[in-house]
Amino acid sequence: MTKPGKRDFLTLRDLQADELRALVARAIELKAMRQRGEAHRVLEGQVLAMIFEKSSTRTRVSFEVGMFELGGHAVHLAGQGSQIARGEPIEDTARVLSGYCSGILIRTFGHERLEALAAMAPVPVFNGLTDRYHPCQVVADLQTVFEVRGTLDGLRYAWVGDGNNMAHSWIEAAALLGLELAIACPAGYEPDAGIVASARQRMAETGQGSLELVRDPRDAVRNSDVVSTDVWASMGQEEEAAARRQAFASYCVDEALLAEARATPTAKAIVLHCLPAHRGEEISAQVLEGPQSAVWQQAENRLHAQKAILEAFLDGRA
Ligand code: CP
Ligand code: NVA
Repeated sequence: MTKPGKRDFLTLRDLQADELRALVARAIELKAMRQRGEAHRVLEGQVLAMIFEKSSTRTRVSFEVGMFELGGHAVHLAGQGSQIARGEPIEDTARVLSGYCSGILIRTFGHERLEALAAMAPVPVFNGLTDRYHPCQVVADLQTVFEVRGTLDGLRYAWVGDGNNMAHSWIEAAALLGLELAIACPAGYEPDAGIVASARQRMAETGQGSLELVRDPRDAVRNSDVVSTDVWASMGQEEEAAARRQAFASYCVDEALLAEARATPTAKAIVLHCLPAHRGEEISAQVLEGPQSAVWQQAENRLHAQKAILEAFLDGRA
């Protein structure tokens, strides 16, 4: 099973810009093939181990169904109920699972735990979300934007809310693809300064893209084409939820805020949310269920985008 020169997908920095664009294009192709009922069993005989140390609905099911549809199989390993929760080192788990499986996906807390797993596993490792990044989600998000707008370029992207794992992966996407991204966060909840600095450095080197950090959500959303948000308290931050509800009170993507976004005669801004959503907190029910919401298409696209990632990394295309 060991592949010399194996590649991991830990953050969007593991991709070149053209590879990320190709993944988005491939996800759209795989979606069309599925709609036509065309079988595409390129991962026949391959098995993906999926370790979840945090809850998941979309990531778990999209990767598991994705492996099935590509002709392979997925094994779900919950932290609790396996030896992982009893303290078996992740490095040992990495070596053992690599003997059985062609790839390992993990959703965990510290990003360094994912890196430790990847360092010891001779098979490709996929980031199913860490406290720091959620790259697989952002591939599906970009697919959704491309489907709706026919391009990723020349658009203004806004992020409203916490400078969290999703915000970090959006920042990396903006740096890689040269996108114009504005982020509005309350004081103390900004994205990681190192991630911001690296993104700005790349944008300066390539002369493409911009990253603006603002306080007022209206300043981020004004004239934007894509408005993204996420929960105020991520998994692992449950004890901070009350304090965060106060700090983020004016960061709800509601109809008044969305009215600031760009609306041309042919295209209105779309709203993205990786889900699960808290209606009345980071997004209003009207916006989530409204005509500008692309959230359900975005959620479905997890399947197609994850299949594109699996195909690229497990079938040796990446
Ligand atoms: N968006 C997302 O990753 O959803 P799950 O937590 O349900 O996997
Ligand atoms: N930021 C959220 C994303 C959930 C998919 C979290 O980490 O809980």
